[in-house]
Amino acid sequence: MKDLSLKLVEKFKATDIRAVRSPLRICPLGAHVDHQGGLVTGVALDSSINLVYTPSTDGYIRIQSQDFPDEEMFHLDHVPEVIPGSWGNYIKGAALSLKRDYILRNGINGIVSGKLPIGGLSSSAAVTTAYLMALCDVNNIKISKLDLVQYSHWVETQYIGLKNGILDQSANILSENNKLMVMDCKSNEYKLENIGAIEHDLEFVIVYSGISTSLIRTDYNNRVDECKVSSWLLHEISSMTLPNLKESKLRDIDPSVFEEYSHMLPGRFKRRAKHYFSEQKRVKDGIEAWKRGDLRSFGQLMNESGDSSVHQYECGCPELITIFDTLKNSAGVYGARFSGAGYRGCCIGLINPAFKKEIEKTMDSVYPVKHPKYKDLYKVHFCKIADGAHYHKI
Ligand code: GLA
Repeated sequence: MKDLSLKLVEKFKATDIRAVRSPLRICPLGAHVDHQGGLVTGVALDSSINLVYTPSTDGYIRIQSQDFPDEEMFHLDHVPEVIPGSWGNYIKGAALSLKRDYILRNGINGIVSGKLPIGGLSSSAAVTTAYLMALCDVNNIKISKLDLVQYSHWVETQYIGLKNGILDQSANILSENNKLMVMDCKSNEYKLENIGAIEHDLEFVIVYSGISTSLIRTDYNNRVDECKVSSWLLHEISSMTLPNLKESKLRDIDPSVFEEYSHMLPGRFKRRAKHYFSEQKRVKDGIEAWKRGDLRSFGQLMNESGDSSVHQYECGCPELITIFDTLKNSAGVYGARFSGAGYRGCCIGLINPAFKKEIEKTMDSVYPVKHPKYKDLYKVHFCKIADGAHYHKI
């Protein structure tokens, strides 16, 4: 943060310096169920997107990124349209999201930076939240954390065009150090679960595959649609009132209905639903294991979630699957899975920190050899659980 503040002073001659720390997130259990109104878990990491900013009273937004070229600049009265793939979309989306309900008079001059690689850790949600918080701050707007989740989510779904759920934003905003954030994506009720007594600290290994693609360019949206069709078919087969296909979600199907009629679903729709219902059970069992401090069971459920993501939800890519398989079988790893959607980016493992060296050695002996194309980009990180997004005193 210090470096960023110095840069802000240098670039904008700023005197009123403010900052937001917006953490990256992982999802230990509850993969691809948020968009179906399911129950998800998430934690924030001690690695974040940092935004240092100063208010601009001329209504302009000027943002420089330490990680991407060019500067984003526009006036709040004329927010430009989305440009596919541009990092500047998130500040534009954040402004538009708030403008639906508030008059924004003040802009920000800011510098933004992140440490871990892009992909699978929800840097997009993290940066959007940081912009929203900064805009609220300089315009004296007070909103609740749950509202912040919704404003941030609007940017991804309505401005960027991703059909995702609220997992990323909930984990990024609501998380607390050492707790498991559990969100019910239908009711928007959430809990922060304490972990039971454990024999040692826990950490997560984050293995970056070297592949960064924005989610909108993957099969993500297609899978969401397949889940909707699956839900709609289950409504039809079981003679329930038919919903509008767009609104149809697997959460609206009772697990017993799935048990009774799943054999009538065509192949991939059956697999998507099987993933959803089994993942919901894993989330519930996982919460209990977490509360008991039973890392072994929790890890086992993570492995099963990873397997279901690969075989039932059919996401992932060969590189991520290599990491997943390697982590699963490494000493000191309780369980592994994709960090998020699983099409690119990172795999995570819940680990005993005493085994860090061994885990890194095992990964190094497998991944770069099997996927030499990514040997210079691939990276192993270790992270702890941290607090959700917050204003940071400079
Ligand atoms: C991405 C999406 C989330 C969620 C996960 C998979 O991170 O943005 O909404 O669907 O994938 O669980």
